[in-house]
Amino acid sequence: MTRDHVTVNRDLWNADAPNWVGMGERLWSLEAPEWGNWGEPESAFRRALLPPHMAGMTAIELGCGTGYVAGWMARRGARVTAIDISVDQLATARRLAAEHGAEITWIEGNAEATGLPDQTFDFAISEYGAAIWCRPEVWLTEAFRLLRPGGQLVFLGNHPLSLICAPLDGSPCDRTLHRPYRGMWGADWTGVTYEPSGICFNHTFGDWVALFARIGFGIVDYQEVYAPDWADDRRGEVPADWAKAYPVEQVWHLAKPG
Ligand SMILES: C[S@@+](CC[C@H](N)C(=O)[O-])C[C@H]1O[C@@H](n2cnc3c(N)ncnc32)[C@H](O)[C@@H]1O
Repeated sequence: MTRDHVTVNRDLWNADAPNWVGMGERLWSLEAPEWGNWGEPESAFRRALLPPHMAGMTAIELGCGTGYVAGWMARRGARVTAIDISVDQLATARRLAAEHGAEITWIEGNAEATGLPDQTFDFAISEYGAAIWCRPEVWLTEAFRLLRPGGQLVFLGNHPLSLICAPLDGSPCDRTLHRPYRGMWGADWTGVTYEPSGICFNHTFGDWVALFARIGFGIVDYQEVYAPDWADDRRGEVPADWAKAYPVEQVWHLAKPG
C-alpha cells in the first residue's frame, strides 16, 4: 500500500467510535459470546472461537474496539491484554471494563507492531480488528512472535468471496463477480459512494494458506460462516439471501508449533 492505512483507519475509527458504544454495551452484558454478522452463539460453530476454560492463560485481543471479546476472555479466567489504534474506542472499552469489574491491560497502539515481548501469550484473537484492518503478512507475523510455542490464534473476518461480489461503489454484495480473485489484497473503501470507511485487507484462500505456511503457523481448522436460516436483512450489510447461499465470513484457527 502506498497510502498509510494505519493513519486512515485510526482516523476513521476515532470518528466512528460513538456509533459503536451501544453495540459494545450490549455485547459486554451477554451471558455467553455471540459471533459474526448475525450474532450466532458458540454452539452454532463446529469449533468454538474461545477456549472454554482460560484460567491460567495469557491472552491478547488484536484490534479490540470496545473490548467485549477481551471481557469474555477475562470472565473465563485469562489474564488479558487488548490493543487498539483508536483512543476513542479504547475509552469505551475502559469504561465498560470498569463497569463489569474486568481487569484488562489496554494498550493504545498498532497491532502490526505491538512492542510487546516475544512469546508472551498462550492465545490471541481478532474479531474484525487486525483480522481485516491490518496487512496480513505484518500482523500475522507479529501475532506469531507474541505467541508461545503451542499457542493458538483465532481470527474472524470477511470471506474472500464477499469481497469479489462487492460492487466497486461499496453497495452490498450481489451475485456478480465485481473484482478479480487472483491477486486479491483487500479494498480501499475511503472514496466509495455507499458508506465510505477505511482500508481493509483480505486474500484468496490459497494466498492465506501460503502466508500461514511462510510464517510457520499450522492450520487447526477453517470455518466458513453462512447466515442462519432465520436471518433477515436487518443486521449486517450483506443481504441475508446472499449469505445463506455463499459464505460471508471466515474463521481461521491457527497454531504455533509447540
Ligand atoms: C470492528 S472493530 C473490531 C473490534 C471489536 N470486535 C468491535 O467490534 O468493537 C475494528 C477495530 O480495529 C481497530 N484497528 C484498526 N486498525 C488497527 C491497527 N492497525 N491496530 C490496532 N487496532 C486497529 C479499530 O480502531 C477498531 O476499534
